[in-house]
Amino acid sequence: MIEESVLPEKMKIQKATRVIAVTSGKGGVGKTNIVGAFSLYFARQGKKVMILDADLGLSNIDVLFGISPKYNIENVLAGERRLSEVVVNGPQNVRILPASSGSQWLTHLNEEQKIKLLGELDDFDEDIDILLVDTGAGIASNVLFFCEASQEIIVVVTPEPTSITDAYALVKVMSQNYGERKFRVLVNMASGSSDALETFRRLSLVADRFLNVSLDYLGYFSNDPLVPKAVRSQNSFLERYPGAQVSKDVMAVGRALQNESVPEVKGGMQFFFRRIFGGISA
Ligand SMILES: Nc1ncnc2c1ncn2[C@@H]1O[C@H](COP(=O)(O)OP(=O)(O)O)[C@@H](O)[C@H]1O
Ligand SMILES: [Mg+2]
Repeated sequence: MIEESVLPEKMKIQKATRVIAVTSGKGGVGKTNIVGAFSLYFARQGKKVMILDADLGLSNIDVLFGISPKYNIENVLAGERRLSEVVVNGPQNVRILPASSGSQWLTHLNEEQKIKLLGELDDFDEDIDILLVDTGAGIASNVLFFCEASQEIIVVVTPEPTSITDAYALVKVMSQNYGERKFRVLVNMASGSSDALETFRRLSLVADRFLNVSLDYLGYFSNDPLVPKAVRSQNSFLERYPGAQVSKDVMAVGRALQNESVPEVKGGMQFFFRRIFGGISA
C-alpha cells in the first residue's frame, strides 16, 4: 500500500465523482428545476457539485440561476479557452459547465476535438463529488448517450398520462438498445403522496410487465405555484422559498439520494465523457 502523500500530483487518487443524469420522456416536466434544486441541496451538504447542461435544445440552467456565462464548451473545442475558464459559478458555488444553445456539441465531435476535451478534463483539477447532467427530453440519441454514460439515471415523470407514456418509451429504448436495467423515478408536480405513488404504479406496472427492468421509486416533488414564480425571478425555488412544500420535498428526496450506496460501476467524470464519445459514431 503506497501512501497517497508520496505520489506525484498527477497520480493522486481522484475522488470518485458520482454522475447522475436527470432525464425524461417528455419535455417541460421540471428537469432543469430539479437539477438546480438537487445541486443546491448537495452543495449545502458540503459537496462539490457540477452541472453539465446537456440540454442541447434549450440550455437553460443558466437562465434559472440568473447567470449569463461568457463562454461555453465550444470555446474549449475551438482552443480559445481552457475548460477552467468556461466553467462558471452558480449559487452556493455550484459549478456549471455551459453547453452552447442550439448546437449538438458533444455528440458531433471529431477525433481531434474529443482528444482536446479529454485532455482538458485531465487538466481540470477540481475535485467534483457530484456531476448532475441535465439531459434533454425524449429518445433522441444525444439524450440516450448522456444517460448511458451516467452512473445513475433519474427519470422525471408527472401525473399526466402523456408524460407516463413518454417515460415508458424512454425506459424501453434505454433497456432494449443500451441494456440499461436500473432507473429511479421521481414524480414531479404531484398533488400529494398518493398521486405520486399512483403515477409511479402506472409506469412500473407496464415496465414490469413488458420490460426486464427495475424501476425504483425515488420520491416526489409537489406541484407548487412557487416554482414558476421563482423561475420568473431567476432563482431556484429552494433558495427563494425555503419554506415551501416543494422545498421540503427536495430535502426529503435529497436525503434519500444522498444516503444511497453509489453503484461502483461506470464511475467518474473522465469515464463519463469517454463513454459519451465511445457511444457515438462519428
Ligand atoms: N414542482 C413544480 N410545481 C409547479 N411547477 C413546476 C414544478 N416543476 C417545474 N415546474 C414548472 O414547469 C416548467 C418546466 O420546468 P423545467 O424545469 O424547465 O422543465 P424541463 O427542464 O423538464 O423542460 C417551468 O415553468 C417550471 O416553473
Ligand atoms: Mg430543461
